[in-house]
Amino acid sequence: MIAPLGELKAQSKEPLYPKYLPHYDPLEKVEEVGPFEHDDPGHRADPKMPNLLQNATSITELSPHCGTELLGVQLTELTTEGLDELALLTAQRGCVVFRDQTYTDAGFKEQAKIASHFGPLHKHGWMPHPQDGPVEFVIVYDSKDDLRIRKSWARKSPIQFHVDQSPERQPPGLTFFCMLESPDGSGGDTIISNMGRAFERLSPSFRKRLEGLNAVHTTANPILREIRDNGNNSVLRRPITRNIHPVVTVHPVTKQKGLFVNSSYTQSIVGWDEEESDYMLKFLFDHINRGQDFSCRVRYEPGTVVVWDQRITQHSQTLDYAAGDRRHAFRLTPLANVPIPSKIEEDDGECQKDEARVMLNLC
Ligand SMILES: [Fe+2]
Repeated sequence: MIAPLGELKAQSKEPLYPKYLPHYDPLEKVEEVGPFEHDDPGHRADPKMPNLLQNATSITELSPHCGTELLGVQLTELTTEGLDELALLTAQRGCVVFRDQTYTDAGFKEQAKIASHFGPLHKHGWMPHPQDGPVEFVIVYDSKDDLRIRKSWARKSPIQFHVDQSPERQPPGLTFFCMLESPDGSGGDTIISNMGRAFERLSPSFRKRLEGLNAVHTTANPILREIRDNGNNSVLRRPITRNIHPVVTVHPVTKQKGLFVNSSYTQSIVGWDEEESDYMLKFLFDHINRGQDFSCRVRYEPGTVVVWDQRITQHSQTLDYAAGDRRHAFRLTPLANVPIPSKIEEDDGECQKDEARVMLNLC
């Protein structure tokens, strides 16, 4: 039933999760996690996923190429084996959506422990954490009393597909996004897009051109925006992070190839002239933005937890609800492997498909 307009705009006056309110300290510094050996839990998973799925009352694909919603499963009740299987399912489907989670109320320690199963937790350079909570908790808070997010997206499309923190030497793998309070009615969804399918959708010979290329990823632009928007109140916990990653990567568990350039952090293609690099990156970003056929859209309710695998997806906010409505969530971001470069497979017959497309008048 559609609620009357007055009710749609009603927000609880006080935040439901005050312990998770954002804390901004311009003087705070954090150390990066540093190099570590990553053993992906997905390698240990039983492909039939009995531990993850035994209590599932419903398993729904959100779209053919991205997203599965699991009902009846509580993250807090999963065994080590169940979490290993979650790594595998997320790698295969890009993202997994859980509803009505007790995880939301499990407390900092338990929440961090579950996410840490997948890797050491990233410490963010500029996003807020809770005042009395661990620095690894990234707080997303948009409300009448805190308009920093709105300000940072003023006069700019909110749609920007990205991998969180791709400039890290070992970027994130699985990521936990837990919704504490969402706008009444609709709005504030996340669009998640499968980069494996984005790569497959390109012509075989074009794909081969991309393989073997590397690109520069840097946090310079978001840090400059933080300074522009917040001046002396800017949070700058870490210096600019910059690393070079393959343009096409391979997922360590599924071995699926995927595009690994994104419009938030990828600056240039190594060894190409500026004009060439800008042109290619613009094409790839446009291709990802157009990917309605390889993405899904996740709607939130309080208690929704979305787990996505950053190595095979990109995501975008929508920021489509009314300014001032409260949206409050936290993110935990386990780091994973150094990105694995995709290699051109010699004479795999793929390029002949280009000729077949001509023959079939598909070009
Ligand atoms: Fe993000």
